[in-house]
Amino acid sequence: MRILLTGGAGYIGSHIAVELLNADHDVGIVDDLSNSSPIALQKVSSITGKSTDFFELDCRDTPGLTGVFRSFQPEAVIHLAGLKAVGESVEDPLRYYDTNINATLSLVHVMEQAGVTQLIFSSSATVYGDPEFLPLTEQARTGIGISNPYGWTKFMIEQILIDLATSQPSWKIALLRYFNPVGAHESGLIGEDPQGIPNNLMPFVAQVAAGRRDIIEVFGDDYDTNDGTGVRDYIHVMDLASGHLAALENLTPGVSTYNLGTGQGTSVLEIIHAFELACGHPLAYKISPRRLGDLPSTYCNADKARRELGWSPTRSLTQACHDSWLWQSTNPEGYST
Ligand code: UFG
Repeated sequence: MRILLTGGAGYIGSHIAVELLNADHDVGIVDDLSNSSPIALQKVSSITGKSTDFFELDCRDTPGLTGVFRSFQPEAVIHLAGLKAVGESVEDPLRYYDTNINATLSLVHVMEQAGVTQLIFSSSATVYGDPEFLPLTEQARTGIGISNPYGWTKFMIEQILIDLATSQPSWKIALLRYFNPVGAHESGLIGEDPQGIPNNLMPFVAQVAAGRRDIIEVFGDDYDTNDGTGVRDYIHVMDLASGHLAALENLTPGVSTYNLGTGQGTSVLEIIHAFELACGHPLAYKISPRRLGDLPSTYCNADKARRELGWSPTRSLTQACHDSWLWQSTNPEGYST
């Protein structure tokens, strides 16, 4: 198929690009490079021996996007482009609502004009807000207790796409709710390259391991969890990427929603210790106060994706730490190394 991947130069997008090219799809990438690097796409080509068509563009640029559709002629779209930093979204909510929602509206308008009605959307576990129960199934309620504008944009976009598919039965849409993506491609050529101080745990731990930062702050050790630290469902980014391929191959009319996670909860301290084994030395950490808006624990039941898409994660947390360390140690400054 001819697949347009928005946000395809970013962390998750570049790994999806590898999976799509390896499955012999033609891949067009739209990315404004605001939080990504064109070098990632060169590396994707080195890994796969194939190239992508790259369009540097903000998806809110509707005329520009129309031109991309004319020249690339996609049959399906995987939409990842958007802003994703939780704290930043609290400080600058309008930028988040404008960027994430208007990019999606622009995209679906252009798709409609072009008669392209197959869409996979990068949603997030954040739509579950305060989890109704654990492990989370797709039936759990959404939209109660979402603590930041970034999370609300994911929730609102899901609703927009549900309304669209209800009004026009030709649409086939998959909403993929990501849990916590970690790791890197096993080659160590592509990986997560956060700008500035990483917000997320795994890249922060990797930078401490590489000596780029001094000490990991563990945000709270008094939660009601196995060791008191926050519990999350960490999924290898290549497993997450293969979930997109499975969703693409199994698109059905209407909207289908899938959790993409492992079903396993892992605490912050367990992550630090797993990473110590991968990098081969102890990592300095200290207990700090809880981070505002954090949940004690969240992990999923991913049986629906297993049942309906034939997808299940195959890589362990040990593998994720190993791959993350290979990427971090060989590219200590990310793509600018
Ligand atoms: N944590 C630390 N120290 C750090 C960073 C994180 O202790 O320096 C802890 C957090 O308190 C949490 C766990 O590590 O318990 C994971 O935190 P992340 O920031 O890596 O991930 P979150 O689960 O908070 O957020 C992720 C995505 C969001 C998404 C959210 C939805 O980054 O985009 O999951 O579940 F909205």
